[in-house]
Amino acid sequence: MFSRALASRLSNAESVTVFTGAGISAESGVPTFRGKEGLWKKFKVEELANFDAFMRDPRLVWEWYRHRMTIVSSVVPNPGHYAIAEMENLFKDFSVITQNIDNLHQRAGSRTVYELHGSIERNFCIGCGRDFPNDATALKEAVPRCDFCSGLIRPDVVWFGELIPGDIWNRSVSAAERAEVFFSIGTSGVVYPAASLPSIAKRAGAYFVEINVEPTELTSKADEFICGKSASVLPRLLSIPHPGHKHGSP
Ligand code: OAD
Repeated sequence: MFSRALASRLSNAESVTVFTGAGISAESGVPTFRGKEGLWKKFKVEELANFDAFMRDPRLVWEWYRHRMTIVSSVVPNPGHYAIAEMENLFKDFSVITQNIDNLHQRAGSRTVYELHGSIERNFCIGCGRDFPNDATALKEAVPRCDFCSGLIRPDVVWFGELIPGDIWNRSVSAAERAEVFFSIGTSGVVYPAASLPSIAKRAGAYFVEINVEPTELTSKADEFICGKSASVLPRLLSIPHPGHKHGSP
């Protein structure tokens, strides 16, 4: 399943960072973006998740996000999310960097989570910047508009061509650089700058482990590739003995 090298690194590690993508939520029932189930109607994610597409046809983009919101609100975290939440109690310095917008890490109990691509649970007006939660009355319209300035309301997610908020990116880079062991889990590793984090971690000295059901763009850089489903692999990592710095040793 995994090597002695990984067991030894994890047993001695104080700083561990995990970087996740859509694959970690696949076993909760959230469809991934690429591969067989990737298309929604006939559209690729790149054709919907961008500002131009939204301005051209906000109704369509909203229809897609509502579809994903409905899925996300009806699913629950899986054993992979829970194992990651448990790992946070074992290591002195532990961070989750996620590309997912589904909030499942937080729902599983993870506390230090950097959401690179935003959250499907938040929305804001592109006119005045006001925030709108998903249950706001304005969100019930097919094309939601701001109650205050009539501007279009959009999901608070990072679209293609947009920048990851600077503070979240800087904290993510720092967590990658501090990591003694860096896991990349359930991501195809094709969307940048997120996909540069494993290289940043490795350059700074991390042991880079990839967990995926198939090889990806990142696999050639990995010190160890664990082929398997994250909900099966991650709970097994917890069996590696660890002093549990936070709660255990004096
Ligand atoms: P992708 O859909 O590109 O990749 C999902 C990855 O998960 C693939 O490599 C699968 O092989 C793997 N996978 C599927 N099931 C798995 C399982 N049970 N266990 C482990 N791995 C599994 O999703 P992301 O890499 O997350 O961004 O996509 C990155 C970004 O592209 C997303 O954040 C989103 C999208 O466009 C934006 O919308 C800006």
